[in-house]
Amino acid sequence: MAVEDLEINEIRALCQTVQEKYNYDFSNYAISSLKRRILRIMEIFKISSAAILNDKLRTDSLFFKQFINELTVNVTEMYRDPSLWRDLRDKILPNLFSTHNNIKIWHAGCSSGEEVYSMAILLKENGWLDKAKIYATDIDESILSKAKEGKYSLKNMIEVNEKNYIRYGGTKKLEDYYKVENGIAKMDASLVSQVTYRTHDLVKSGVFNKFDIILCRNVLIYFNQQLQNDVFKMFHESLFNYSYFIIGSKETLIWSEIATKFITVNQEEKIFKKVKE
Ligand SMILES: C[S@@+](CC[C@H](N)C(=O)[O-])C[C@H]1O[C@@H](n2cnc3c(N)ncnc32)[C@H](O)[C@@H]1O
Repeated sequence: MAVEDLEINEIRALCQTVQEKYNYDFSNYAISSLKRRILRIMEIFKISSAAILNDKLRTDSLFFKQFINELTVNVTEMYRDPSLWRDLRDKILPNLFSTHNNIKIWHAGCSSGEEVYSMAILLKENGWLDKAKIYATDIDESILSKAKEGKYSLKNMIEVNEKNYIRYGGTKKLEDYYKVENGIAKMDASLVSQVTYRTHDLVKSGVFNKFDIILCRNVLIYFNQQLQNDVFKMFHESLFNYSYFIIGSKETLIWSEIATKFITVNQEEKIFKKVKE
């Protein structure tokens, strides 16, 4: 029988075990989605109580990898929100390249890498690929391995990514950038030969470089207000002055302490520019 509910204390106890044993801190993730994901994990692995889940987490580190993978939401698409990618191509990147020879881009919470390929293809089609250094990070090691592999289901490629690419207005066909093997689309590895993939936990890993563009889309939505605020501060520190910060369409900067240090470049696309140190 599926477990239907979890007490807040049970969720806290699970977070504490994960923190003590594995040094990941989920205590400031938004409680409602955290609860939904934990209930789902219990259903998938047929775990009948929070106490059993807690014991399993304590004793089975292989299970913990699956736990992290299921706890985090990895849904993503190439050219998700095509109008944002048009803005990047037509306004943001030309503006940066008018004053910079080289730029650094950080995809924080890159999931299986579709966002990174979207950027690489955009840069290639506009002659900028050699001038951009991309960093792609995620908390979840297994999803990051998927990103590095660059293998996606052909069905999804055609039904979702190709449609987004057409709406974005790419200059070629998306199929020019992958080879098909047994129903799997294998992306052209040369697109990402300059990409650095690494695990990075937004909750605790902190600043590791300075960037001209940071994209952190559809990640902060899973954090509570306090954690969003802390992470926004870390992003502010990681950006050069007059550089760009892009979040997801349902996310907002306005409640955070660093809001006054940014101006809004495009409210709809959630593009902000850092204007104060
Ligand atoms: C819904 S996906 C977003 C993917 C992509 N940015 C997009 O918008 O299509 C959210 C990603 O955030 C990652 N994530 C969750 N918590 C994180 C954390 N504390 N640090 C880094 N990444 C995290 C998840 O592993 C997941 O891959």
